[in-house]
Amino acid sequence: MLLARKVSAILVILLCTCAPAVPQQFVDNATERRIDSLLKQMTIEEKVGQLVQLSGESNHSTPRLDEMVKQGKVGSVLNVVGAEETNAVQKIAVEQSRLKIPLIIGYDVIHGFRTIFPVPIASASSFDPQIIEQAQRVAAKEATAAGVKWAFAPMVDIARDPRWGRMVEGAGEDPYLGSMIAAAQVRGFQGENMANPDSMVACTKHYAAYGAVEAGRDYNTVDISEQLLREIYLPPFHAAVKAGTGTLMAAFEDLNGVPATANHHTLTDILRGEWNFQGFVDGDYGAVHELIAHGVAQDDSQASLKAIIAGLDMDMADGAYSSLVSLAKSGKLAMPVLDEAVRRVLRIKFKAGLFDHPYTDLQREQHDVLAPEGIQLARKVAQESMILLKNENDLLPLKKDVKTIAVIGPLADSKADQLGSWASNGRAEDAITPLEGIKTKLPQAEVLYAKGVDIMSMEKQPLAGAAPAPSTATGVAQANTGAGASIDEAVKTVQKADVTILFLGELAAMTGEASSRAYLDFPGKQMDLLQAVVATGKPVVLVLESGRPLDIRWANEHVPAIMQAWFLGVQSGNALADVLFGDASPSARLPLSWPRTVGQIPIYYNHKSTGRPSSPDRWHTGYLDESKEPLFPFGYGLTYTTFKYVNLHVETPTVSSTGMIHVSGEIQNTGQREGTEVVQLYVHNRVAPTSRPVRELKGFTRVTLAPGQSKAVEFFIAAQDVGSYDTDMKWVVPSGTYDVWVAPNSAEGIQGTFEVAAK
Ligand code: NOJ
Repeated sequence: MLLARKVSAILVILLCTCAPAVPQQFVDNATERRIDSLLKQMTIEEKVGQLVQLSGESNHSTPRLDEMVKQGKVGSVLNVVGAEETNAVQKIAVEQSRLKIPLIIGYDVIHGFRTIFPVPIASASSFDPQIIEQAQRVAAKEATAAGVKWAFAPMVDIARDPRWGRMVEGAGEDPYLGSMIAAAQVRGFQGENMANPDSMVACTKHYAAYGAVEAGRDYNTVDISEQLLREIYLPPFHAAVKAGTGTLMAAFEDLNGVPATANHHTLTDILRGEWNFQGFVDGDYGAVHELIAHGVAQDDSQASLKAIIAGLDMDMADGAYSSLVSLAKSGKLAMPVLDEAVRRVLRIKFKAGLFDHPYTDLQREQHDVLAPEGIQLARKVAQESMILLKNENDLLPLKKDVKTIAVIGPLADSKADQLGSWASNGRAEDAITPLEGIKTKLPQAEVLYAKGVDIMSMEKQPLAGAAPAPSTATGVAQANTGAGASIDEAVKTVQKADVTILFLGELAAMTGEASSRAYLDFPGKQMDLLQAVVATGKPVVLVLESGRPLDIRWANEHVPAIMQAWFLGVQSGNALADVLFGDASPSARLPLSWPRTVGQIPIYYNHKSTGRPSSPDRWHTGYLDESKEPLFPFGYGLTYTTFKYVNLHVETPTVSSTGMIHVSGEIQNTGQREGTEVVQLYVHNRVAPTSRPVRELKGFTRVTLAPGQSKAVEFFIAAQDVGSYDTDMKWVVPSGTYDVWVAPNSAEGIQGTFEVAAK
């Protein structure tokens, strides 16, 4: 929980993630009695039916799905969208099935439903959980108006490897930032009460450690220590559970030898045993059946038995769980295990209000979709999501009285790409491209455009049984393979203009699921275009649109201004024009460490010291041929002004392990413009039972200061929050010395120390 309040000129931050888990409010006597009574009436087939989730895109409207719903053999559908369509299939469940149990209808609502917000890695860069919560509220309002009651989000996987395409879906590399954003998203989707018509059930995914896939290759193996699992990968899931997520989705990968889909340790021991989670867990698309390919089951029957015993309640899309019927009848599956899974599913259906209000009001779809407030919020989130990486001689913001401006590059006018991966029900036509945004911003200027080069799609053949490709995929490939792009023409255009803004990066379809890359370079001939444009000697601003940090060493040496824009959603072009021309200021920070080259991966700021952190000679951890430091550190980002950090005060030089640490630092705006600084608090425990990261983020806040203005920023952290796991995986707060930094990023800051007293 993060509370910020102003006390005269002082900002007070109260941080406390250590509070005991808020008991979830899902279990109450009245609901449990209703579930008991249903369970008594249910046949084994009907019980198993509640655990079967089928995809509507291949089955809906076919007699098969409808017939199965009628027979009570399906508990949930995904990929059926639209108030009329969802009401139609719901009607079969509620009016024609024997026990009239409603379906729960799910869909990938990741960063907006129709009003597409910046991709999650972008909005995470805002370090602004509140605005992310508001964005997911808008998404919930739109999705529920279209009959979707269950969002397969938030995706809270920590990612330390930009080769992994799914980095774009999460909040980056840090467990603290990831936890704050995970909780905010759950609150946004679920609102005050999951049963409200405009609230949806969150499905926090992919549990667990999916982001640790070896070599960044999607669906690959994960083999990590219990400590790494608990300290880095699990915290955002735990935060989501504490925030009340109704459901979780198990991950595809093999985790320490036991696929996450059938992993008793994560699904039961930790999730239910330690965290007291009372909702249900869905499998990922086809993942129960995939236990055969993993080599831990010989057929669907064995796969299903393993999965349900491990704690997986629902099976997505492959129909494997139908085999639970004969397993239950033969006694191989104990009835209490089956009943418990059904109970969890029914509990969430009750809590989501589906028994009382199974249908969607048809009127809402007209009013609640693409509402002006949502579009305005999408623009604000986009402004807060772009990171200024370089700004030599204050080239940015550009002057609005510029006469001729060249807008160049394959992403400058591609609508579909602005939306990014997993664009849900988003439509390319809703997106404002950078070219459009700049033209609107500068009606008097001459805005010239040249595409320069095409980016060819890298799409693989769809895999049998894989999840549907994001709706943008086809549009993206088409949007960027048109004929007529030429570097010569781009150079001529640049030569006619006073300043150039160059939009390079990746297609949206090169990011997201099944989009791992072995190289981090600019795909296609974009590097040639970049070099040709820079060779003109004209001032160039480089805007990067991508789902991962790219290898920009050359650009960083030769281009004066660089902005990382990720994929900014429907308001991309307007927000970019706002920031590039100074109507809004950049304030975002990197939620990851930006590698210089693919050879440094995995790279993350919260690494261990090693026994040889540095030395003047070669005998320390590093490379012969490259620095070990990132190009830009986690937490880094420039603004249009400058800030100075002074006067660090550790108000509590010694605390008990149950006390509160109080640290303050003064931030001064030393530049000429108003700006928003993301002030970060890092801690390092010098001696502990297990080696500790060199720094760990424990707090952050956004502070807006006028030129010349200063503010003291105070952080209060519970000492429990600076602890760690010992070798027996017990949480301890070691006594001794801790370093603390109030900092603009993970590599700088003003530093002090505090002591945790021995008991
Ligand atoms: C597979 C993806 O891994 C998951 O994130 C998504 O929610 C499901 N397919 C449903 O589309």
